[in-house]
Amino acid sequence: MNTNVSEKDLSSIMVIFGGTGDLTHRKLMPAFYNLVHDNLLPKHFAIVCVGRREKSSEEYRREVLDSLKRFSRNKIEDQKWKRLEQVVFYENFDFTGLEGYHRLKKRLNELDDIFGTKGNRAYYLAVAPEYFETIVQRLDESGLARSVGSWNRLVIEKPFGKDLATARSLNESLLKVYREDEIFRIDHYLGKDMIQNIMVLRFSNFMFEQLWNSKYIDNIQISLLEKEGVGSRGGYYENSGAIRDMLQSHILQILSLVAMEPPVDLTTDAIRNEKLKVIRAIEEFTPEFLRKNVVLGQYGAGYIDGRPVPAYRDEERVAKDSMTETFVALKLHINNFRWAGTPFYIRTGKSLAKSSAEIVIQMKSLPNILYFRERYTQIPNLLVIRIQPNVGVSLRFNTKDFKSHNNIVQQNMDFSHENSSQGNTPEAYERLILDVLRGDSTLFSRWDEVEASWKIADRIIEYRERNSFDFPNYNAGTTGPVKAFELLARDGREWWSL
Ligand code: BG6
Repeated sequence: MNTNVSEKDLSSIMVIFGGTGDLTHRKLMPAFYNLVHDNLLPKHFAIVCVGRREKSSEEYRREVLDSLKRFSRNKIEDQKWKRLEQVVFYENFDFTGLEGYHRLKKRLNELDDIFGTKGNRAYYLAVAPEYFETIVQRLDESGLARSVGSWNRLVIEKPFGKDLATARSLNESLLKVYREDEIFRIDHYLGKDMIQNIMVLRFSNFMFEQLWNSKYIDNIQISLLEKEGVGSRGGYYENSGAIRDMLQSHILQILSLVAMEPPVDLTTDAIRNEKLKVIRAIEEFTPEFLRKNVVLGQYGAGYIDGRPVPAYRDEERVAKDSMTETFVALKLHINNFRWAGTPFYIRTGKSLAKSSAEIVIQMKSLPNILYFRERYTQIPNLLVIRIQPNVGVSLRFNTKDFKSHNNIVQQNMDFSHENSSQGNTPEAYERLILDVLRGDSTLFSRWDEVEASWKIADRIIEYRERNSFDFPNYNAGTTGPVKAFELLARDGREWWSL
């Protein structure tokens, strides 16, 4: 993985389709501002945001400033905003017609002259997925997708397809215009600091790597839990659900990093090859296995932090009889020599009691002799990798109680990333934007990984579609469906948080 920003020439223009959208305002613009703040924005750089609404660049910049005040992790300072403001431009046109693309081309050439951006281009598709193919086609037809003597890249947000068939067809269209190494498929979880840290923790610590297998690990739990409901995204979420929205992408990516073999080196393809093998080694889901080991849920009304929260079916643009899942929990096995015998439990859901994303590695227990024979209940050692909030790692172990002298207590050795000496953790998009400009696609999904993930997700989606569920089956603000707890209890285990 490449971490030295200064080693490549990053001079370029990033064109964002969907300039007035939620993602641009909440994530991309704050990321640019924070790059300015940390002195990482390339010297020769411009951002052109394309939207369908009519407005001037001045108006657009005012809106961006408002969003920055709400969503940036660093406070907005005048000088720094000025640095960003002068490189942000707005163009309005209809993505489907060709005319606007010709105008855009002319504008980009002018900006090249002003900013010294050398014809290098990154097109970021932050639009609804139904526009992906059209925009790429128009970029091709207008000659924007190729630049002689400079680089030209495509950044594409999720969802990448809605199943294997649609993902394949989308990919084929993209490959008619761009090479695989020019396509950057975003999975923003890969840009999160602790996700990048998984490989470092595993492959640079003797004590972790030596124990990282089914001989010593009892089970691994991955939980991506959210307090937020679907909010204004009901229209999108109805056609997605937790399986497509979180499991197919973020969860399988995390799983592959946790379970992969050491790559031969740290090159992009070496890492992606090992991740892919994990997804391919997931034990085939039979209908019988799915019936026993998948729990689906949908939230009913409830309270979160004392505020009333509507049932999913009462959210905006959601059907009153919707059968879309807002929660999924699942057990799976990875059929290879390292993991045979160790179950992986994964779960994700919306409108839960708290937001947290973490990986728990539960070590095997000692035999119940000595201390554990009668007096004490054994609590296994846990390694907890906290993705958010409070980014960090903790290791739980047993120790003598200093006060009572005759008790065993659990202690955590805790490392937290968010302390005063480090400042707050950079947001995923800051890292990912720089990686696009550097041409480093290690933290993006390669097509075969996406393909393998859809094969897994499709089986679970088929199972959901063939069966009926008693929704809603958990109240907003709770810990999710009871069955998710029974799933582990049946195996004599428990979820370690929430
Ligand atoms: C997105 C999903 O990919 O990830 C959202 O579409 C989800 O539904 C979000 O809320 C969670 O991301 P984060 O970074 O807030 O944990």
